[in-house]
Amino acid sequence: MGMSSYDAALMAEQMAYYRARAPEYDSVYAERADLQELLATTAELPIVGHVLELACGTGQWTPLLAERARSVTAVDASAETLAIARERATARNVRFVRADLFDWQPPRRYDTVFFGFWLSHVPPARFPEFWRSVAASLAPGGRAVFVDDGPTEAVHEELLTDESGHAALRRLEDGSAYRIVKVFHEAQDLMDQLAALGWSAQVWQTARNFLAGVALPPGRKV
Ligand SMILES: C[S@@+](CC[C@H](N)C(=O)[O-])C[C@H]1O[C@@H](n2cnc3c(N)ncnc32)[C@H](O)[C@@H]1O
Repeated sequence: MGMSSYDAALMAEQMAYYRARAPEYDSVYAERADLQELLATTAELPIVGHVLELACGTGQWTPLLAERARSVTAVDASAETLAIARERATARNVRFVRADLFDWQPPRRYDTVFFGFWLSHVPPARFPEFWRSVAASLAPGGRAVFVDDGPTEAVHEELLTDESGHAALRRLEDGSAYRIVKVFHEAQDLMDQLAALGWSAQVWQTARNFLAGVALPPGRKV
């Protein structure tokens, strides 16, 4: 299925936003105690074996994954965020790849595919395709593990009331504005959507306003 030109434009603008935001990105992690707490919950998530991290950004999650993984392959489209991630995640079992996730074939299969604050940036029309690519990246017995904003975080977002229903406006410190994709998933609805695609998923709201999930691809049971 082709992507609508609206979604294509939105995703290009979203990429430009994260490239431009790279030098500002980490301040939110420094300022928000709830994000620091969320990072600490990595210890409770099933991160095992060879890990593929999608949309690693500035590498906030990458060193935590690397501590638990045999290897981490961390992919992001932005050279600007990757430069910061490379300085943060210096462990020898980490490698970085610059690629558009919707245009990238993994060179191998992984035991864990992890994505932090990425699912909410996938347009609804590309949701099935995204999960198919995650399934194709998983080795037998492998699992997808993710964290994201929960529905209560929507109050902090400048949601656009355009025809798409999944766009938001973000501003950088210099005042420049970008449209991005932002979908606030609810835990039960996300489990239902994944079940409809054949996945077995547990998705839960964390103590603060985030979602966490563990999902097994079609053909496997929890
Ligand atoms: C909200 S950030 C999440 C970063 C990191 N995972 C975290 O939790 O802090 C989204 C990331 O997705 C990346 N990105 C956006 N569109 C992408 C695409 N099509 N392919 C790969 N990465 C993309 C951006 O460069 C940005 O680093």
